[in-house]
Amino acid sequence: MVVPESGDKMYPPPADLQRDAHVPDFNSYLALYRKSLDDPEAFWKEVADDFFWKTPATGPMLQYNFDVTKGSVYVKCMEGARTNVCYNVLDRHVRDGSLGEKVAYYWEGNSPDNRETITYRQLLSRVCRCANVLKLMGVKKGDRVSIYLPMIPELVYTMLACARIGAIHSVVFAGFSSESLGERIADAQSAVLVTADGVFRGEKLINLKQIADEALQKCREKASRSVAKCLVVRHHALRIRAGAASNKLQTPWDPERDVWWDEAVAAAPDECEPEWLDAEEPLFILHTSGSTGKPKGVLHTTAGYLLYTSLTFKYVFDHHHDDVFWCTADIGWITGHSYITYGPLANGASSVLFEGTPVHPHVGRFWEIIEKYKVTKFYTAPTAIRLLMRYGGEPLQKYDLSSLRILGSVGEPINPEAWQWFHEAVGGGRCPVVDTFWQTETGGHVLTPLPAATPLKPGSATFPFFGVEPAVLNESGEELEGEAEGYLVFRRPWPGIMRSVYKNHERFENTYFKKFPGFYVTGDGCRRDKDGYYWITGRIDDMLNVSGHLMSTAEVEAALAEHPAVAEAAAVSRPHRVKGECLYCFVTLKERREFSRSLEDELKTLVREKIGPIATPDFIQNAPALPKTRSGKIMRRILRQIARNEEDLGDVSTLADPKVVELLISQRCQAAA
Ligand code: WTA
Repeated sequence: MVVPESGDKMYPPPADLQRDAHVPDFNSYLALYRKSLDDPEAFWKEVADDFFWKTPATGPMLQYNFDVTKGSVYVKCMEGARTNVCYNVLDRHVRDGSLGEKVAYYWEGNSPDNRETITYRQLLSRVCRCANVLKLMGVKKGDRVSIYLPMIPELVYTMLACARIGAIHSVVFAGFSSESLGERIADAQSAVLVTADGVFRGEKLINLKQIADEALQKCREKASRSVAKCLVVRHHALRIRAGAASNKLQTPWDPERDVWWDEAVAAAPDECEPEWLDAEEPLFILHTSGSTGKPKGVLHTTAGYLLYTSLTFKYVFDHHHDDVFWCTADIGWITGHSYITYGPLANGASSVLFEGTPVHPHVGRFWEIIEKYKVTKFYTAPTAIRLLMRYGGEPLQKYDLSSLRILGSVGEPINPEAWQWFHEAVGGGRCPVVDTFWQTETGGHVLTPLPAATPLKPGSATFPFFGVEPAVLNESGEELEGEAEGYLVFRRPWPGIMRSVYKNHERFENTYFKKFPGFYVTGDGCRRDKDGYYWITGRIDDMLNVSGHLMSTAEVEAALAEHPAVAEAAAVSRPHRVKGECLYCFVTLKERREFSRSLEDELKTLVREKIGPIATPDFIQNAPALPKTRSGKIMRRILRQIARNEEDLGDVSTLADPKVVELLISQRCQAAA
């Protein structure tokens, strides 16, 4: 047991969990952690032994260079090994194991009466059919397939079908606009797009195919290469639900290019030989916002990602055979990739796959689902917790949540108030809350408690996972010891770290390795307390975290600046009760343009259309001028302070024109957030 020096309140792991846990106490964690750093070869070899390798590795478990001054940055895991991720997460359980009849997914649709149970055997056969369809469409190893689907089983089938034939999937969150989708398809140069006719989000019917068509049109205009085939899932829930709805849905169709999913898979065989891939061949690309320029295609590869998502899932959620796991994230984000698709399946787990929203058709939906499937491990985001907290304890009391054993949080710092509510009201005070810190780039959890081992402090992501060696640096790159606050960096790789930015290795090096040679730079600030616990303090770069979704201020500013009335725009974050952070934008208009309510609405719509509804600004302030340094740089710190209603703006002596600030303060948006 760690004895806190700080006097902070700690929550020890529950004894019943410790009895059969994989890592049953803090000393076991420390011993394993030591081993993972002192002898990574032996540590990761043992993990790899659980998987199937067509050809064994000839190289070490990990090789790398993190120091840009010494040459190109690279990470390699298990050189020489050949395997297939899909084979490992499906065939290994069905053909070589005994999990064929075990439930892989309990799919629960947007409407509570749409549901489906899918066993491992069914999953394998559907994945094979889809793989054969993709092959027929001409998809080969190394080709990219873009996926723009709601949270339906076909999304998982397609990802695994790609993995099976060695194609690289590029999933785009189905809430993104046609512009964002088009940009991502063009960046990946995908040969095929897989989408659906439509989806209900709550009560709203969204015509996905139409958005997809607009995106493809934009790609054609910009890129030389265009998507040859588009596979379209007929969302059956849509048809069942009111003929009226499906009548309203006009599915635009290009007979040369578009193929209905159901017709294609019905004609395809349900067996497909997996393609054996080198350990370092790509598995997928997932785009994440960059602080400058276009989104980055984060590239993950085969062996390392498999080992890492599998191990983090097993230990962080202390997975056991009879668990029912539920991660509420969308697969369009990394959390869904790692902890809905790959991590749980690699462990032969049963998961809930949920299409809907937490408040539809009622605010107890999450709790209803936990009761319905007897969920034991529940993984969600602070923004959802804060949203549900507002409805108080009543919606919870109608449901039996006694199946829950472990709760998890991800995506942004969890404020202690939300942590306490999650722990008490949802977990009945019995379930540890694993606050997992990680990124699209890290592939899996990097700072996280282990539920039966780590005494918790609400709001702290606690300690590093196995193989992860964090450090805290100051602005000059000096490493800080003991209690400290600064840049959170990692000194060495773990198997699941990204390998590159797709088609842009230079950007990979510049973004993550240039600032402090020898370290991977997360872009987050952190504090290490007296007891050695890590606390994430938020992004240090120009990134924002709205409802757990990372976005760049530059992207939002670029969207605003496209409006003919806007001369210049600056976006900053402002704390928000539910979303964590929201967007507060300042716009300077061109001469003779008037700021008005309708212009404000137009600007909000523009950002929605360019990026997606998650990026809709909460506030737009008319700024006759922006505060700038004498060299012309916008002083975002000051804008942030104005947006946050702070009175003391600190040192403004570097401003070219201090009067600008007074004006902005006097006109700031006052609405409560
Ligand atoms: C933030 C999501 C505090 C952080 C998995 C990080 C967190 C960014 C936490 C990555 C946490 C994620 N505590 N902050 N537990 N988890 N973040 O790439 O700023 O969508 O850099 O990956 O989310 O967001 P991404």
